Amino acid sequence: MTALIDRFRSRLPLSASTPVVSLGEGSTPLLHCPRLGKLLGVDLYLKWEASNPTGSYKDRGMTVAVSHALESGARAVICASTGNTSSSAAAYAARAGLPALILIPEGAIAGGKLIQTRALGARVLEVRGNFDAALAGARELAERGTHALVNSLNPYRIEGQKTAVFEIIEELGEAPDAFVIPYGGGGNTRAYAKGLAESGLTTPLYSIESNDRPNTLASAIKIQTPVHRPQVEASGAHILSVTDDEIVAAWLELAREEGLFCEPSSAAGLAFLRRRTDLQGARVVVTITGHGLKDPDIANRHAPPPMKVDADPDAIAAAAQ
Ligand code: F0G
Repeated sequence: MTALIDRFRSRLPLSASTPVVSLGEGSTPLLHCPRLGKLLGVDLYLKWEASNPTGSYKDRGMTVAVSHALESGARAVICASTGNTSSSAAAYAARAGLPALILIPEGAIAGGKLIQTRALGARVLEVRGNFDAALAGARELAERGTHALVNSLNPYRIEGQKTAVFEIIEELGEAPDAFVIPYGGGGNTRAYAKGLAESGLTTPLYSIESNDRPNTLASAIKIQTPVHRPQVEASGAHILSVTDDEIVAAWLELAREEGLFCEPSSAAGLAFLRRRTDLQGARVVVTITGHGLKDPDIANRHAPPPMKVDADPDAIAAAAQ
């Protein structure tokens, strides 16, 4: 197992004595996707972050944040989440032997993420309110000193997440023409901008948000007020928005053209590329942030249900037509 912290220690603000809390995160596949790339008119690579231990890119930041929290003597961690941060925080806290307190917006996170977070032993509180309200609560408790905050306001999260940029450049042997990622709270946009700056690059970074933040079906990025917005706007990232219909179309297309099943928010970057953008012909890396199994209800609504047949070869052959 390669721990992300061991692979990138010289570029992370950790000491040699920081205890490493790892589940084998990072070193995720960079997949060349010529069929989908042809449809989109770009030389397409996907950074498949669904291969992280809890199924999303959050693990890159969480290994660093929880390792640092442990070194600092924290006795518990806390976060607000639309579901992926919570799964990751619960997993790394369990690995570190720390309790995790999770605040989620009531009724608003995907089923797979809620089950995952619960199964990992975290105490889960459903806050009557949206993600912003849950985050305000988490910040307040962190300020009281009882819990270490492991949302992306924790700078160690950003440090860990920037390593995706290092991996992409290392594997391609050079920078691509553009990076494209989804934009929820904006922590990952800051992380990519930092990774680019530390690599001495000015490669364009496209950060794609929902055009209807409070209501989007892409629940991971259903965040009314992105907490990192000022820094995202100052980062030089190109901020663009897509509709739910565009997200669903891109998400289905990825699954059917390339055999890759992601969660809807992860398809925001591909939804943007489906428009005729000025990136035609360019080598583009789109980061797929989370696994499709995280959100089975959305998939259930859009994928054809199975047909029932008798256990009889003729009936099966007839149904195959
Ligand atoms: N993609 C996925 C799968 C996410 O879970 C998130 C954020 C984003 C993209 C957006 O990233 O917030 O750094 O701009 N999920 C957070 C959570 C909010 O609580 O799991 P961002």
